[in-house]
Amino acid sequence: MYSEKVMDHFQHPRNVGEIENASGVGTVGNAKCGDIMRIYLDIDDDGIIRDCKFKTFGCGAAVATSSMATELVMGKSIQEALQVTNKAVMEALDGLPPVKVHCSLLAEEGIHAALWDYATKHGIKIEGLEKPKNDISEGLEDEDY
Ligand code: FES
Repeated sequence: MYSEKVMDHFQHPRNVGEIENASGVGTVGNAKCGDIMRIYLDIDDDGIIRDCKFKTFGCGAAVATSSMATELVMGKSIQEALQVTNKAVMEALDGLPPVKVHCSLLAEEGIHAALWDYATKHGIKIEGLEKPKNDISEGLEDEDY
């Protein structure tokens, strides 16, 4: 049911953890399953993502997609990181079963939420980035959970 890459990233997730004083942190949740993902980005003065870590309280597919997403954005510019869509993450993992496609959205939204946080902290606007709708960084009371 799962590709070897999904199993590998689920069993040996890369870049798990936190970044102290991260440039941007995004926390997103899936209202249906209740799973939560937090992405930390360390972005240098040239706008290059130097480090990326994640914590996921969720299903195996969510762990695997967040692990792969962190690998994909590492070393990229902000604009390049925006191209790391859930589709790109799924392709890099050789696919996900249809019922698990929604899990990969958390990875994309987590990266976007972390970039949004970075942009907000620095008072900049990132072309093509919209406020992630599943961003729960500001607390669950603001959302319909
Ligand atoms: Fe919730 Fe996969 S079932 S993220």
